[in-house]
Amino acid sequence: MEKKSADFILRNAANIVVYPFPYRGKGTVPSWQIEEIPNASLAAKDGIITWIGSTAELEKNVKIQPDAEIYDAEGLIALPAFVDSHTHLVYGGNRADEFEMRVSGASYLDIHAKGGGILNSTRAVQNMTIEELFNGAAERIERLMLSGVTTVEIKSGYGLDLKNEIKMLETIQMLQEAFDIRIVPTFMGAHAIPADRAGDPEKFIDEFCNEWIPAVAEKKLAVFNDVFTEKSVFSVEQSRKILEAGLKYGLKPKIHADEVNVIGAVDLAVEVEAVSADHLLKTEEAGIEKMKGSGVIPTLLPGTSTFLMEKRHANARKMIEAGLPVAIASDHNPGSCQFLEANLIQSFAMLQLKMTAAEALIAGTLHAAYAVGLGDKTGSLEVGKAADIALYNLSSYKEIAYKAGCNCLYDLFCDGVALGI
Ligand code: NIG
Ligand code: FE
Repeated sequence: MEKKSADFILRNAANIVVYPFPYRGKGTVPSWQIEEIPNASLAAKDGIITWIGSTAELEKNVKIQPDAEIYDAEGLIALPAFVDSHTHLVYGGNRADEFEMRVSGASYLDIHAKGGGILNSTRAVQNMTIEELFNGAAERIERLMLSGVTTVEIKSGYGLDLKNEIKMLETIQMLQEAFDIRIVPTFMGAHAIPADRAGDPEKFIDEFCNEWIPAVAEKKLAVFNDVFTEKSVFSVEQSRKILEAGLKYGLKPKIHADEVNVIGAVDLAVEVEAVSADHLLKTEEAGIEKMKGSGVIPTLLPGTSTFLMEKRHANARKMIEAGLPVAIASDHNPGSCQFLEANLIQSFAMLQLKMTAAEALIAGTLHAAYAVGLGDKTGSLEVGKAADIALYNLSSYKEIAYKAGCNCLYDLFCDGVALGI
């Protein structure tokens, strides 16, 4: 067999975590199986993995270029880097007062209805410069990277007028240029009805579809179009209009679905072939049935249900039993979830969603990569995918979630390049 050429070698790892039967997208079945290859090495060329196997087999299988970068991972374990497929990490101000109000009994939607919540953060963002927005978000991205994340989705949605939505999306573009990780931009102008448009929401939605969406698409500032489908926010009919308008301009649909009330958002996600339906806190059997075989990635956000002090969390067990490719993400935002680090979200996936360590890991890497349309590029360590690798000073991947709140990341690579963590 011809030897694989390599310009990057990670050698001597205590083990490398691979997924022997990875989910491959719509029409395929997810597997929750993990294999830890002991005493393993990995080779890559131009940032793409060309070989993974036992270190003893390395020289026999790989042609190491003379100028290749060799990384000695002795004593470390290598995992696919994490993917945070749902964040609102560009924002300003803070909502510590609302947090206290919620702890004292006020509900998230009541605060929203009284002009707080998303509209509170919108007032802050509208008064900030792009540099101020960038600086706050950059700090959060650094925290994410320190927790092993090399792919992050970021939503707009605190501008809520065209000028400020563009400002948020341009901030995300600046972040893309500043960081050597994958940043996926999502337009979420449909996060709330702006305060001054509440009198005529239908007129607002027409303007949104006819002016905002084309402007965002023309500037190529977003890949996805997300909407908060919820009682007293956007109805199913309004959400459909918004997502279909986005589709006409090449923006792929995502939906905040069943976070507080079940109003048909999952049905809509399946109907418009959304890339993901997120939250699903209240989703019951009917919604789970609906998603079977649809290709929609059910994305669960256990940090949010914890931060909102929900009595019950999303029904991950039923979804996994139903054969759905469950993903998990942080949903970091100023109101409903301040948790951010990937290792912490792994712990919540186990503690709140009752996922196994293997399920949490696959949900936060491979399935999350599918939730941002990058399932064929990242999210698992396999030949043909990017060398996006998180190295840990641990003996097993199971310790990541277990050591709750303790981050044992040792090093991080995106496209085979060390990020200097
Ligand atoms: O995903 N639910 C809507 N959006 C965010 C919260 C935004 C906010 O409260 O600022 C979420 O939970
Ligand atoms: Fe969200």
